[in-house]
Amino acid sequence: MTKLLRSKDIVIAVELIRNGEVVAFPTETVYGLGADALNEKAVRKIFEAKGRPADNPLIVHIAEKSELRRLVRSVPKNAERLITAFWPGPLTLIFYKKKKIVPDVTSGGLKTVAIRMPAHSVALELIKKSGTPIAAPSANISGKPSATSAAHVLHDFDGKISAVIDGGRTKIGLESSVVDVTGKIPILLRPGGVTLEMLRKVVGEVESVAGEKEARSPGMRHRHYTPSA
Ligand code: TXA
Ligand code: MG
Repeated sequence: MTKLLRSKDIVIAVELIRNGEVVAFPTETVYGLGADALNEKAVRKIFEAKGRPADNPLIVHIAEKSELRRLVRSVPKNAERLITAFWPGPLTLIFYKKKKIVPDVTSGGLKTVAIRMPAHSVALELIKKSGTPIAAPSANISGKPSATSAAHVLHDFDGKISAVIDGGRTKIGLESSVVDVTGKIPILLRPGGVTLEMLRKVVGEVESVAGEKEARSPGMRHRHYTPSA
């Protein structure tokens, strides 16, 4: 049985995360299936519950900008500008990871890691109180639409995860935009809550792979990007 928690019972969720369990939580975009991003065993449980291929990396959610430098090798100038403009918010950035800290399971075996700071009080409180970054894919079974309510999460995952925190309907209902900032020119890998136009206003030139046949974001290969709303 999966526990349905109210946001005032967040301490229960914190305890579960600390014990390496999977807890679904609301963000401003969609619900996420969260676990301690630095705990391999915990992260594996996400892949199992979701039936997600191991080479499709997860987004690591943080609650404070200062946590970023613990996880990534460097923060390029363009990334700094985008962070100032859009964090907390629906923008995920791809950095080279610190290998000793971010497990390979979390990053799908890549040298890079996806990081975002969600704009949702429940998500931020969960991360802060758990004392660790939280890895989370959208809380839907692979190939199905992303969950925008706790009921939707339960529909897909009842009995497969420890708990879901009910934070009501998510505001945006569309996933975060994913932008690779490892190169000179930022590349939009997945369009989402922050548009290409908004990105260009902040950093000037931005490439977009949306629509390209050979998608660069690993998830694009697995078709779970297919707009299904
Ligand atoms: O709004 C969102 O982004 C939601 C909430 C829960 O934060 N999360 C979400 O996660 O949509 P997910 O796993 O469903 O989609 C993240 C996408 C995946 O398709 C993955 O391939 C891509 O981001 N991604 C993750 N790490 C990456 C990396 N190192 N390089 C390229 N793409 C990456
Ligand atoms: Mg997804």
